[in-house]
Amino acid sequence: MRAVVLVGGFGTRLRPLTHTIPKPMLPVGHLPIIERVVANLGRGGVTEVTLALGFKPEPFIDAFPGGACAGVQLRYAVEPEPLDTAGAIRFAADASGIDDTFVVANGDVLTDLDVAELVRFHRERGAEATMHLIAVDDPSSFGVVAMDEDGRVRRFVEKPAPGTSSGNLINAGTYILEPSVLARIPLGARSSIERVTFPAVASDGGLYAKATEDYWLDVGRPELYLSANLDLLAGRRRYDTATGIHPGAAVHPDAVIVDSTVAAGARIDSGASVRESVILSGAVIGQQAEVVASVILGTVGAGATVTGCVLGSEGVVAAGERVAGERRPDPDAG
Ligand code: GDD
Ligand code: MG
Repeated sequence: MRAVVLVGGFGTRLRPLTHTIPKPMLPVGHLPIIERVVANLGRGGVTEVTLALGFKPEPFIDAFPGGACAGVQLRYAVEPEPLDTAGAIRFAADASGIDDTFVVANGDVLTDLDVAELVRFHRERGAEATMHLIAVDDPSSFGVVAMDEDGRVRRFVEKPAPGTSSGNLINAGTYILEPSVLARIPLGARSSIERVTFPAVASDGGLYAKATEDYWLDVGRPELYLSANLDLLAGRRRYDTATGIHPGAAVHPDAVIVDSTVAAGARIDSGASVRESVILSGAVIGQQAEVVASVILGTVGAGATVTGCVLGSEGVVAAGERVAGERRPDPDAG
């Protein structure tokens, strides 16, 4: 089975990390997010994935020479301009000649969903489109469904105003689609699958959905990106595990690392302590510095204390400085 994975977003909410690393290439447990997404699709029977890219395919092509990722064949479809979710799916599906039932996944969603099971559900219902659902506390920043007991979706509303929708089941960002869905999407124009296509399929009675209780996380914000790494370390994933300190990291023997991921090419000096954090390749944590609940791609000076911060590759905390809850460089500045 073939799949389209949407990776064309700008990763705005993950700045400044995404100034130098595209969101799908940020590592979770030492592997790029996209590799973990593709691996789960592969487990579910997907053999070929087309990455729907809004811009620059180079980082992806470089990362997966030979065009294979987690045992799955990769193709690339680069939109001439961002076409939004439906436009991107149509563009990528046309580019790779998809003409049969296929899978679509949001490229920023980490889940243990059994995709083969979702395909079975889709076929049993004779659905035109089937969506994976997950329960969340606050559905207002997601797509929300109202459905019958057999899974037929009556209504689909993207990002409803708070308090205007009932239920807590949201669109979890994995779909099984018939090629007839492609014919509903205008060619070469911006169009949203959530705002236009799904409501139309629902009103024709062809949209189904299935809720599961699998591990699920949208890595779109720094605190969630951090959680994705910590969840893996804590063994909260069904199939995947990761070691905290990569053998290629330069960690001084008397540095203390607790519940953290330290990448190859990161340096942690003597007496430093790192807790519940992600230290990325190229980061430097100086002597006696203390880092807690942070994501660091930049430099933390000796003796500094850093709590709940995000440092991009140009981000610096000076020696002895104490900072909490900051992003550096400030992504909102000029
Ligand atoms: N190629 C391409 N072109 N990809 C795009 C474009 C585009 O123009 N716009 C967005 N994407 C990709 C993003 O990179 C991401 O992987 C996916 O489409 C979804 O976009 P997000 O910006 O992450 O949307 P969201 O998280 O606010 O909402 C979506 O995901 C939720 C679940 O996490 C929606 O699908 C919601 O309905 C859903 O609940
Ligand atoms: Mg998202």
